Amino acid sequence: MAGGGLSSSVSKKEYNGNLTCYVLLTCLVTGFGGIMFGYDIGISGGVTSMPAFLEKFFPSVYHQEEMVQSNSQYCKFNSQSLTMFTSSLYLAALVASFVAARVTKSLGRRWSMLLGGTIFLCGALLNAAAIHVSMLILGRVLLGIGVGFSIQSIPLYVSEMAPYKHRGALNSIFQLSITIGILIANLVNFFSSKYIKGDNAWRVSLGGAAVPALIITLSGFFVCETPNSLIEREEYAKARQQLRRIRGVYDVDAEFDDLMAASLVSKSMTGSPWASLLKRKYRPQLVLAVLIPMFQQLTGINVVMFYAPELFSSLGSGQNVALMSAVVTGIVNVASTFIAVFGLDKFGRRRLFQVGGIIMLIFQASVAGLIGAKFGWTGVSETPMTKLYSIILLTCICCFVSAFAFSWAPLGWLVPSEIFPLEIRSSGQAVVAAVNMLLTFAVAQAFLTSLCHLKYGLFAMFAVIVLVMTLFVQFFVPETKDIPIEETWKLWRKHWYWKKFVQEDHHHDHDHHRAVDHFGRFPN
Ligand code: BGC
Repeated sequence: MAGGGLSSSVSKKEYNGNLTCYVLLTCLVTGFGGIMFGYDIGISGGVTSMPAFLEKFFPSVYHQEEMVQSNSQYCKFNSQSLTMFTSSLYLAALVASFVAARVTKSLGRRWSMLLGGTIFLCGALLNAAAIHVSMLILGRVLLGIGVGFSIQSIPLYVSEMAPYKHRGALNSIFQLSITIGILIANLVNFFSSKYIKGDNAWRVSLGGAAVPALIITLSGFFVCETPNSLIEREEYAKARQQLRRIRGVYDVDAEFDDLMAASLVSKSMTGSPWASLLKRKYRPQLVLAVLIPMFQQLTGINVVMFYAPELFSSLGSGQNVALMSAVVTGIVNVASTFIAVFGLDKFGRRRLFQVGGIIMLIFQASVAGLIGAKFGWTGVSETPMTKLYSIILLTCICCFVSAFAFSWAPLGWLVPSEIFPLEIRSSGQAVVAAVNMLLTFAVAQAFLTSLCHLKYGLFAMFAVIVLVMTLFVQFFVPETKDIPIEETWKLWRKHWYWKKFVQEDHHHDHDHHRAVDHFGRFPN
């Protein structure tokens, strides 16, 4: 199969120790980081469909909505300032993730988490107390900085704390907690708009983000630093002690020596890790680090996550029905993520990429067809949408969300994280996070305007992109299942296309052996 080409059977290493309660606690910490991030994704769409919120902060949108009868359905919510409310967070997160990369490296993972939680908490409180649109936007920017720090440091923290055999599962648990955060936000929006009157409804929704932020900030005070980070900062005795603690055994020499060796290789690299990323031999990794998160966002998933309530209310369902539809897609999103948690290591990354891609293509195209058939090019429908029509549309959206949840959602984070050799891993990860945030921002910012101009063609465009990315995976993404993270670099040498970039490169073997020799304790 083109691009598949996996064959190397590699002997797995054995380290002493278990999955301790201490490490499980760190899982919980990641969980709240994911919930915090997901809550933000899910909350804005519901809040911006609440009339009290629109009337107070975006009166022009509010009045436009009042006159829907004479307007195109496609353009009802087209307001740059309203969109800025949603997307400012991602722009702030993009910038913050680069700053966080430095803090995480020099001060440790824990400080980034603490900082992220605290800044996020301030943002949530500012949003809940907002009396002017500037307070709202500033609050969103603070939330974004918090998100940038958190998504940069938390997954790193957990994957360093976890025994390597559990790293894959923990990685998808982070995605699972993102989906749970989105669902909680959908539910909070639904109940607050139904049972709370006036301004308090959106204040409760926006202020709710403070809960996971508080939990993660408090945990930041109690959890300890990872052994890897301590070694990076040359606190060797402390690092060994910490490794014993998290593995629950005294003899941790084998793992400790490997951590030291990896750190030595990484320190032996000259020049900046950012410049290294641009070297020809890292071209396959760099291309995937940019394209995978980019494609993940260009599926159009966040159009559903951010704007589902607006989409439904602009298509003519009532506000409650619109918010309820968001809850339904939220439940489908969480439930389908379990397929990934259990399936990633069983069926392989490529299989899930492909099956997910084909299902997404079919249903994104169906959404385009259904919206086009109902509203045509003018955006004005003669008759209101029937209940059956809305149910069919919602079902198509749910099938699309479900396929995304078990494929590109977890894989968009997992695959890039397992293809970088250690020397460029942290800078590579920062690129992945930044591209993800940039495209999340771009899609959020452009969606309402694009809907107004491209109409149902926008969904057809997303469908075409899904086709392109599925073909891309087919030809350019090798299978990484069952390959230890430090061995994945060998895949490129066997790949029909990428081999020309890496074939003559023996630098990695050389570096690795040199480091081991230099350290003096590791046989080749
Ligand atoms: C994506 C988010 C998306 C979420 C949906 C994540 O993997 O990065 O942009 O909203 O999945 O569950």
